[in-house]
Amino acid sequence: MKISQDTIDEIKSRVDIVDVVGEFLQLKKVGINYRAKSPFSNEKTPSFFIFPKNDNFKDFSSGKAGDAITFLMEYDGLNYVEAIRFLARKYGIEIQDEEQSPEQLQEQSERESLLILTNYAKDHYVNNLWEHEEGKRIGLNYFKERGFSEETIKKFELGYSLDQWDDLEKSALKAGYKKEFLEKTGLIVVKPASEEGGEEKSYDRFRGRVIFPIHNNTGKAIAFGARILTNDKKAPKYVNSPESDIYHKSKILYGIFQARRAIRSQDNCYLVEGYTDVISMHQCGVENVVASSGTSLTEEQIKSIGRLTENITVLFDGDEAGIKASMRGIDMILEQGLNVRALVFPDGDDPDSYAKKVGAFNFREYIKENSRDFLAFKTELFSKGAERDPIKKAETINNIVGSIAKIPDPVKRTVYIKETSVQLNIDEDVLIAELNKIILQRRRQKGQTRPEQLTEPMIELIEERESQKREEVDSLKLQERECIRLLICYGFNEIENKYRLHDHYLEELEGLEFTDGLHIEILETFKRNIEKGDVITADYFIKNGSDKVKKYVIDLISDQYEVSENWKRYSIFVPREIDVLDNSVYTNLLRFKFNRIKKLISNIKEDLKEETDMNKVEELLKIQMELDKAKLEFARPLGIVIS
Ligand code: CTP
Ligand code: MN
Repeated sequence: MKISQDTIDEIKSRVDIVDVVGEFLQLKKVGINYRAKSPFSNEKTPSFFIFPKNDNFKDFSSGKAGDAITFLMEYDGLNYVEAIRFLARKYGIEIQDEEQSPEQLQEQSERESLLILTNYAKDHYVNNLWEHEEGKRIGLNYFKERGFSEETIKKFELGYSLDQWDDLEKSALKAGYKKEFLEKTGLIVVKPASEEGGEEKSYDRFRGRVIFPIHNNTGKAIAFGARILTNDKKAPKYVNSPESDIYHKSKILYGIFQARRAIRSQDNCYLVEGYTDVISMHQCGVENVVASSGTSLTEEQIKSIGRLTENITVLFDGDEAGIKASMRGIDMILEQGLNVRALVFPDGDDPDSYAKKVGAFNFREYIKENSRDFLAFKTELFSKGAERDPIKKAETINNIVGSIAKIPDPVKRTVYIKETSVQLNIDEDVLIAELNKIILQRRRQKGQTRPEQLTEPMIELIEERESQKREEVDSLKLQERECIRLLICYGFNEIENKYRLHDHYLEELEGLEFTDGLHIEILETFKRNIEKGDVITADYFIKNGSDKVKKYVIDLISDQYEVSENWKRYSIFVPREIDVLDNSVYTNLLRFKFNRIKKLISNIKEDLKEETDMNKVEELLKIQMELDKAKLEFARPLGIVIS
C-alpha cells in the first residue's frame, strides 16, 4: 500500500483544513480562526480551534493537534494511508498503489486489521452480487425488484452473501486474514469444542442474504445488516454484525457517510428507521437522511447529527409503535438543544413503502408539506377530540409541556409556551405553572433543590444567550446599581446578626471593580469615608456630590422595592425590605458576581477572535473554562438554567 511522495505532496497542497474539518463539525468563524465544540470530549466551552493561517487545528480539551490528515486519523480512527485516500477521493486526485502482502497485514494494529478485514468482506459481498451467478440471480434481482437502481446499489455498496456455510471464511483465510479477526468482527460464528469431544466449529454469520454495509463517517465499512429473502417467519428478517472494537451501535447512524454533505447543505437531517428507508429516499432525490437502524435512538447518535445541523425531521411509520418511537425521539432531540420536526406516513407506510406507492415527486412534496414543528405535530396528534374531554386535554397539555421542559434554552422555551397557549387556547400562566412544576420536579429528582430555590420565583428561569450582549452589560450595571443602593441605604445595618452590611460588601467586592464610571466614583467616595471611620449614606451624596452623582442618588433611593408582578399575581406575601435584608444582600452579590463573570467571559471571547498565538489561545481558554465553571456555581443558587 505504497503511495508515492508526489501524490502525498499534491494532496497536501490541495487540502483546505477548514473544508475538511467542516465536513464533520459545525464551525463558527471567530475573527480569522474557526471554533467548534471538541468532538473528542463532552464539553460546554468550545475548545476546538482551527488556525487556517498555519493549516492546523488544536483541540485544547484533549490536547490533540495537527493538520487535516491528523484530524481524520483522530476523528475517525483512520490510519495515515486511509486518511490520504479519503482526501484523494475528496479532491478528485488519483492514486496508484500496490496490494498489501499477508506479511504486511500482520503488522497492522488490531483495530486497523478489523477495519481492513471488514472492508475485504464488503468487497467480497459486492463482488458476489455483481459477478457470482447466485448473487446476480438472487441478490441483484431482489434489489432491482425493490426498485433500487444500479447506481443506488453501488452508492450504498450493497452486496450478497452466498448460501453456503463457509464461503466468506474460506476466501478470507486464503487471502491471508486471521480467523481470530473473522470472529472478532462477527463475520464468522465460532462454536467451541464440546466436552463430549465435538470439535470446534465455525460458520459464516451471513448466508443467503442481501447485505447492507454500515459505513463510518469517512466511508469505511464497519459492520453489516443482512436481510433475509424469503418470507420465513421463523428466521429473523435482519441479521446484524455484533458490537466490536470498530462497531459501536449506539454511536453510528446508517447512511451518515452518504448523507453528510447533503445534511450540511440542506441544514436539516431526516431521521428514519430502516436501511431501506434511507436508500429509497436517496433514490427519490432526498439525500440528507440517516437511520437509527431498529435500535432506539441514542444521545450519541443525536450529537453526531448535531455536529452537522441543528435541525432534525423525524420520519416514522404511522403505526402505533412508530409513533411511540418518534415521541421518544422528539424529546431526546429537544434535550440536546436541537430543533425537531416530525411527520408520520398514512396507513402505516414507512418512507420506503410510501415512496414506492406515490413516486419520487409526490414523496418529496409529501414530506415538504406535512412535516410539522414538534409542537404542531403533537397538538394535531393529541388534540383530536380533546376539546370536549377535560381529561384528555389535561393529558395533552402535560405531554406537550413535558417536551417543552426538555428544551435547554429558556428563550426557546418561552417562545414555545406562547405558541402552545395560542394553539391549545390555554392561558399562558397555566402553562408556565405547569412548566415550572415539571422543572422543579426534575430538579428535585436530581437533588438540585435547595431551600432558597423554592422561594425564588421559578418564572425567572430565563437567562443566558450569547447574542444578548447588550442585556448582559445592562444586567451587570443593574446589579452594580443595586450594590450601591444597598450600601448607601443600609450600610450601617446588621446582617446575619453579626456583620455590618458595609463590611460585608467591601470584603465581597474586593478585587471586583465596577464597570460604570459613576458607580466607581460613588464606591470610591464611600471607601474613603470608611477609612476615616464614617459610614456615609445617601444624604451625604445628595449634599456633597457633583450634580451627576446627586441626581443619580436621588433616583436610586426613590426606587421602589421591586415587587415582581408574579409575586403579586400569586398573592405571595410581600415583606418589607429591611426585614429581608439578608436575602437581598445575598442575591444581589450572587447576581453581581454572576454578571461580572459573564462580562469577563465575553471579554475573553473578544480576545480570542484576534489571537493567533496558540499558547495565548490555550491560556485564554483555560481561564474561560474556569470562568464557565464559576458561572455555573453562581447560577445554581440563583435558579438560573444555563444552556
Ligand atoms: N431491524 C433489525 N432486525 C430485525 C428487524 C429490523 O435490525 N429483525 C432494523 C433494520 O435496521 C431495519 C429497521 O430495523 O432496517 C427497520 O425494520 P423494518 O421496518 O422491519 O425493516 P425495513 O428496513 O423496512 O425492511 P423491509 O422494507 O425490507 O421490510
Ligand atoms: Mn420497509
